[in-house]
Amino acid sequence: MVSTVPNPSVNLSHVRQDIRALQTHLVEWRRQFHQKPELGFQEKLTADFISQKLQEWGIEHHTEIAKTGIVAIITGKDDSSQSQVLAIRADMDALPIQELNEVPYRSQHDGIMHACGHDGHTAIALATAYYLHHHRESLNGTVKIIFQPAEEGPGGAKPMIEAGVLKNPDVDAIIGLHIWNNLPLGTIGVRPGALMAAIELFSCQIFGKGGHGAIPHQTIDSVVVAAQIVNALQTIVARNVNPIDSAVVTVGELHAGTAKNVIADTAKMGGTVRYFNPEFAGFFHQRMEQIIAGICQSHGANYHLEYQSLYPPVINDPRMAELVSSVAQTVVETPVGVVPECQTMGGEDMSFFLEQVPGCYFFLGSANPEKNLAYPHHHPRFDFDETVLPMGVEIFVRCVEKFFG
Ligand code: NI
Repeated sequence: MVSTVPNPSVNLSHVRQDIRALQTHLVEWRRQFHQKPELGFQEKLTADFISQKLQEWGIEHHTEIAKTGIVAIITGKDDSSQSQVLAIRADMDALPIQELNEVPYRSQHDGIMHACGHDGHTAIALATAYYLHHHRESLNGTVKIIFQPAEEGPGGAKPMIEAGVLKNPDVDAIIGLHIWNNLPLGTIGVRPGALMAAIELFSCQIFGKGGHGAIPHQTIDSVVVAAQIVNALQTIVARNVNPIDSAVVTVGELHAGTAKNVIADTAKMGGTVRYFNPEFAGFFHQRMEQIIAGICQSHGANYHLEYQSLYPPVINDPRMAELVSSVAQTVVETPVGVVPECQTMGGEDMSFFLEQVPGCYFFLGSANPEKNLAYPHHHPRFDFDETVLPMGVEIFVRCVEKFFG
């Protein structure tokens, strides 16, 4: 079933007719991806579908980059060595969530669901490839469309870069979008500088000395040590970070003990750190080590800390953010329009691309409470208003046209 009635509150009149005409295909492809969701680096069916379409349309492309990644290359009329190359990135992976939506296109893969909108990203990028290829005579440069695996972890951007996806021809700038239920349909979230946070993960085990709950002086209580560490870790944000900067330390896991009258031998904790300022790289790890070591030493306990920097912050280039923002303003005409206050402490491995070349990542508002399409991302009832799909294509296409001037 294809939804043919656009949301009346959203003005699609700025989306050109031949892109609006792609809506049936956009919905069909998105639902195809939605029904066959795949986890990171296992996006075989998704990649095959994309590759088959690109093949059918005669678009040059390379497959199996970082296992399941694909890059499509659309060369315009100016293919001289001076011509510019703009990349568009879309992620393809789903999440280990059991879908609870009762829709005809619900996930057919048990325990796996497109609960973040990457099915929509893939459909938008595919339609953009189709459109640009059929208008390549008026394209003054080269567009690379990157279909990336494993954004939800462990991360497909970095291995794709290492495999040379930004080389030959060399990419000058990159853009990408995230369908975003935190913003209403008909709005775009974009800003220069930090858009999304760095993601760091840690786990720590405390080694004390167990014993009888009534005889604490013969023990080293790992629960008391862990409790002090949990509290002290909060002082990193409160006392070591400039209050003008934003950061989060969350201890999300804490496990210890087996009985009410037993002092626990060991305690385990784990959590995540988020921040926008790239200068904090390495800082939280260092402070955490100092705090844990100090507290453990004062109690005679030992510890083992594992710390992982997963993704750096998503930092938009001011010039590219301005380009996206000016384009978006001409596409979405709602009272809200372009929303600059759209930062989130969520993270994204688009950041690795943005470390290599100037670019802009932006949020495409997709929530429509009137249609009950406003559940948050990663929720088992997540779904979005598909009217957003041609809007995404229009913004990409206009960005390409404006970038090449
Ligand atoms: Ni996502």
